[in-house]
Amino acid sequence: MTLTTPVVEITNLKKTYMLGKVPVEALREVNLKVERGEFLSILGPSGSGKSTLLNLIGALDKPTSGKLLIDGVDVSKLNDNQLTEIRLKIGFVFQFFNLIPRLSAKDNVELAMSIAGMSKVERTKNTEQLLETVGLKDRMNHKPAELSGGQQQRVAIARALANKPRFLLMDEPTGNIDSKTAHEVIELIKKLNAEGVTIIMVTHDQNLAKEAKRTIQVFDGVIESDMVN
Ligand SMILES: Nc1ncnc2c1ncn2[C@@H]1O[C@H](COP(=O)(O)OP(=O)(O)OP(=O)(O)O)[C@@H](O)[C@H]1O
Ligand SMILES: [Mg+2]
Repeated sequence: MTLTTPVVEITNLKKTYMLGKVPVEALREVNLKVERGEFLSILGPSGSGKSTLLNLIGALDKPTSGKLLIDGVDVSKLNDNQLTEIRLKIGFVFQFFNLIPRLSAKDNVELAMSIAGMSKVERTKNTEQLLETVGLKDRMNHKPAELSGGQQQRVAIARALANKPRFLLMDEPTGNIDSKTAHEVIELIKKLNAEGVTIIMVTHDQNLAKEAKRTIQVFDGVIESDMVN
């Protein structure tokens, strides 16, 4: 594989859900290429297909038709084990932080590390490094309930980075925090991108979308525009 392989390459992608007997065309003929190092936002109104697209890119769901390559690999050709493997190469961040309440920030991040071949000492070291990256070294032993919304989301971002993913997928990462705290989260996301992390972020907030380097706008299951910010 060459360095120029896009992280995501989508051709004529369609997703139709069946609601009982009624087909819902969530995505129609989507084409998209995302290169390594990009910071892409996906903007669109409620119901336009943003999460559907993100879930397909994350190999969490299967398209109805069309082609999806992740790191040059055709996802439709993978078996369940291979799908699990490819998902480990992707970092997920959601609107609701989904941290484990009983565990400290440190343990939430460490738990996510795939432990194959990594000693406890190494896991601890990597966890501390990640929490330092997201500015929470002094909060490592706090449980989620002892952290602000923005801090919880930063733990979730550290956790998403635990397995050195090829890219980060974020669905409304600031949707559940106030606008001031949202600012610190978006600054962190920008910092990570400046350090080389590829980011694909879904939002319905135009101001947030503009923080990315590139924005695609989705309406009714179709990409209507693709712009550099
Ligand atoms: N599991 C499902 N079964 C049936 N229809 C679905 C399913 N999931 C989503 N849809 C429909 O597909 C369309 C796209 O939904 P999607 O969740 O991708 O929108 P979205 O852009 O993420 O919206 P929001 O901003 O509200 O999160 C909507 O019309 C939705 O009702
Ligand atoms: Mg959504």
